[in-house]
Amino acid sequence: MVYIDRISAQEVLDSRGNPTVKATVVLSDGTIASAIVPSGASTGKREALELRDGGERFLGKGVLKACENVEVAIADELVGLSPYNQAQIDMIMQELDGTENYSKLGANAVLGVSMAVARAAAKSLNLPLYRYLGGSNAMVLPVPMLNIINGGAHANNGVDLQEYMIMPTGFDEFKEALRASVEIYQTLKKLLAQEGFSTALGDEGGFAPDFKNNQEPIEYILRAIEAAGYRPEEQVVLALDAASSEFYRDGFYHLAGEGRQLTSDELIQYYEELVERYPIRSIEDGMAEDDWEGWRKLTERLGDRIQLVGDDLFVTNKAILAEGVGQGVANAILIKPNQIGTITQTMETVRFAQRSSYRSIMSHRSGESEDPFIADFAVGLNTGQIKTGAPARGERTAKYNRLLEIERDLIFGEYIGKELFD
Ligand code: PGA
Ligand code: ZN
Repeated sequence: MVYIDRISAQEVLDSRGNPTVKATVVLSDGTIASAIVPSGASTGKREALELRDGGERFLGKGVLKACENVEVAIADELVGLSPYNQAQIDMIMQELDGTENYSKLGANAVLGVSMAVARAAAKSLNLPLYRYLGGSNAMVLPVPMLNIINGGAHANNGVDLQEYMIMPTGFDEFKEALRASVEIYQTLKKLLAQEGFSTALGDEGGFAPDFKNNQEPIEYILRAIEAAGYRPEEQVVLALDAASSEFYRDGFYHLAGEGRQLTSDELIQYYEELVERYPIRSIEDGMAEDDWEGWRKLTERLGDRIQLVGDDLFVTNKAILAEGVGQGVANAILIKPNQIGTITQTMETVRFAQRSSYRSIMSHRSGESEDPFIADFAVGLNTGQIKTGAPARGERTAKYNRLLEIERDLIFGEYIGKELFD
């Protein structure tokens, strides 16, 4: 019987230059596998805790305590166990921590081990990670949401909404969809440069020029789609992540870039106008995580026309999603493993979303690494959508490149862009 022989952890760097946990698992058959944990900037309040050392090292962001928790407390419990029972491994870590949000061990410690165990198990069975995670039913290549203009907490500009994304829906293959997205991205870069805008990149690889309002990015993206030779709406649709918890204070939504403050009703009205004018098919965190009344109204008004995604709202948490389903809030959930802490809990949330007819979108964080785990995870769980940034910067392209590989491996894989929003 193959068992877990050793577990170690090391402090490495994420794409923003902050420390993060890299966990390594060694099996008794000699298999070695590692995984790197990502980190968010516009985090939801109810996310699992990311353990940071404080003090002066790395301006307080060190993760040596989390690494020690992996090597001592967690390794003590897991060494000797089978790597093939992911639910058992994750359950043991959850019980060892004993808190709701992994505030004792750190979700960064726990998730690193959870991912590394899954990867080691797959490797020792000679299976690709997506196949191990999803079995023979893992067949769907996700439609990417590519964030090509960055604002909000991910950029230094006057744009209040955090992400302006394209979704290449009108294609039959992932690689063709990705190619179109890249051509649009490069065309957008040229367009921006021609008009004197900066083409410097935000945290997720999108451009972050100093636009004067929240609509201008949409206009530029539409121009870029057409100039690249593609048809907006028919082939490429738009998605927004407002990340509105970031600009919600005292019951108002403060659009600082536009010098306006809106009530929930006014913001919903604003979205409705955008959806009428532009081919927007998805809005994430349209309302703030504390504004459930606003969320209910938004879902009532737009829920049968577009995808409404809860990110900060649901934080990949099955119990919070269940409240949302019960109250008719949102119709989709963003899936970020480090918001909840383990692979098993992430899978539980996705299964519950699927049973509740809510769509799921596998997602990166703004602070990422070269680890492409979520590409395999998206295919393994047939989420049908993935959000992993612009088609630029190594930590983002690592995921797209892995999906290209998976598509080539699959032969009978399905790219479901054309039916996604039918
Ligand atoms: P984060 O942002 O990783 O900084 O939280 C991503 C998002 O809001 O979707
Ligand atoms: Zn978000």
